[in-house]
Amino acid sequence: LVLVVDFGAQYAQLIARRVREARVYSEIVPHTWTAEQILERKPAAVILSGGPSSVYAEGAPNVGAELFGSGVPTFGMCYGFQAMARALGGVVDHTNTREYGRTALAVSDTASTLFEGSPAQQTVWMSHGDAVVAAPDGFKVTASTAGTPVAAFEDDERRLYGVQHHPEVLHSEFGQRMLENFLYHAAGIKPEWTTENVVEEQVAAIREQVGGRRVICGLSGGVDSAVAAALVQRAVGDQLTCVFVDHGLLRKGEVEQVERDFVAATGVSLKTVDARARFLAALEGVSDPEQKRKIIGREFIRVFEQAEREILAEAAAEGEPVEFLVQGTLYPDVVESGGGAGTANIKSHHNVGGLPEDLQFKLIEPLRKLFKDEVRKVGAELGLPREIVQRQPFPGPGLGIRIVGEVTEERLELLRDADAIAREELTAAGLDDEIWQCPVVLLADVRSVGVQGDGRTYGHPIVLRPVSSEDAMTADWTRLPYEVLARISTRITNEVPGVNRVVLDATSKPPATIEWE
Ligand code: XMP
Repeated sequence: LVLVVDFGAQYAQLIARRVREARVYSEIVPHTWTAEQILERKPAAVILSGGPSSVYAEGAPNVGAELFGSGVPTFGMCYGFQAMARALGGVVDHTNTREYGRTALAVSDTASTLFEGSPAQQTVWMSHGDAVVAAPDGFKVTASTAGTPVAAFEDDERRLYGVQHHPEVLHSEFGQRMLENFLYHAAGIKPEWTTENVVEEQVAAIREQVGGRRVICGLSGGVDSAVAAALVQRAVGDQLTCVFVDHGLLRKGEVEQVERDFVAATGVSLKTVDARARFLAALEGVSDPEQKRKIIGREFIRVFEQAEREILAEAAAEGEPVEFLVQGTLYPDVVESGGGAGTANIKSHHNVGGLPEDLQFKLIEPLRKLFKDEVRKVGAELGLPREIVQRQPFPGPGLGIRIVGEVTEERLELLRDADAIAREELTAAGLDDEIWQCPVVLLADVRSVGVQGDGRTYGHPIVLRPVSSEDAMTADWTRLPYEVLARISTRITNEVPGVNRVVLDATSKPPATIEWE
């Protein structure tokens, strides 16, 4: 186990993923943890992430100096590097040179533990105002940049390492190599963590938790719930009943896809509940995004409880209560919903923040520690078909949060048609692997003037939001070819009545999020 201490920016998740890419299991812990709490988990190594603070700022986060004397191999990056330097008697100063983005790094010791196997001149990703100007006693300085005299240091004896740059960012050319040097050589960890282990471990854990009792699982049509359900099915077989709530906020053809493909692949028993009218009624008159999310999350659970009663009635002969509910919650959902202290609650992901307090089930969340790409691997491992495993992420609240404004059946119908066209054209152009996902958003509260045929129109815009991402934590807008954009735009305005304009969202995340709500 490697613990990544989160100093409050979003770097910690990326670091945790990179560690796992090196086939070493990692978890993120908040910076409010004391050194004692960290050491209690018996980590094989600790990584201190970057963060937005200055080590001089009042209340600047820190880990107790005991950590540095514990002998547990520790690697500080950016803020974590400065915090380590300061705690051990080095000097951190406000320098006048802010370094941001790609920066040339001069390595003075390419035989050092961290730089072993990488060149003397390399490009790294920097993002800092303060800098370490003097390393603490006992440390060897191994690199510098034009603006930072001490850009990396290490002390093999105390097993402490640090760099000013961000090795976890892809723009740091030898970042992964450096991380592996730390994990394999400094900490002596073997790369043994794989998705097969995850399946074995989770199957055993689920069996243990569930025993002979019954479980229900909500399928959303997405990758996460499908993989979670397949895992539970593998663990407890017929004790699992899947419930698929058709909340009416799904995309075209999705209900059929779940009913057909998923059942064929897993053989689970599936009950589809048609709750379309109920969700529409609950959402009537509601435009506020957070309110919509809360309502959808709440209704979802209520429908499950009803389905549970029905399943129980049907299985009256067996008479066993359903005690567990499976959720496909992922690690980033947990962290983004404020799961780590010092991390802002950006949105209430409906399967984390939006659950009602009087929930009647115990939760089984077998993917709670996994990132999306890992979930896909687990799904493939479980034999799920490609169409399910490689699906674009689709939010639990569905099209409900892709209509800016009130959700109505008419608007859903319109958005479904526009979305189907966009998906069709992206697939036809062979772009599915290039984009992470492409939300199609209806600006229902906005109208603009157009001209079609001989007449004036006063219709709604559709927004295309194609993004490239590795984990949805950060994303860039995908530069789709103009011809593809043109085809989508022409088809949507021709084929979807009520839409007279198609616009492209050219914003990265941050500052925007991927979804509009
Ligand atoms: P944002 O909009 O936060 O989205 O940049 C990040 C990723 O999460 C998906 N998303 C959700 N998934 N329940 C989910 O299961 C939700 O409430 C939810 N909200 C956003 C979004 O599609 C993107 O992939």
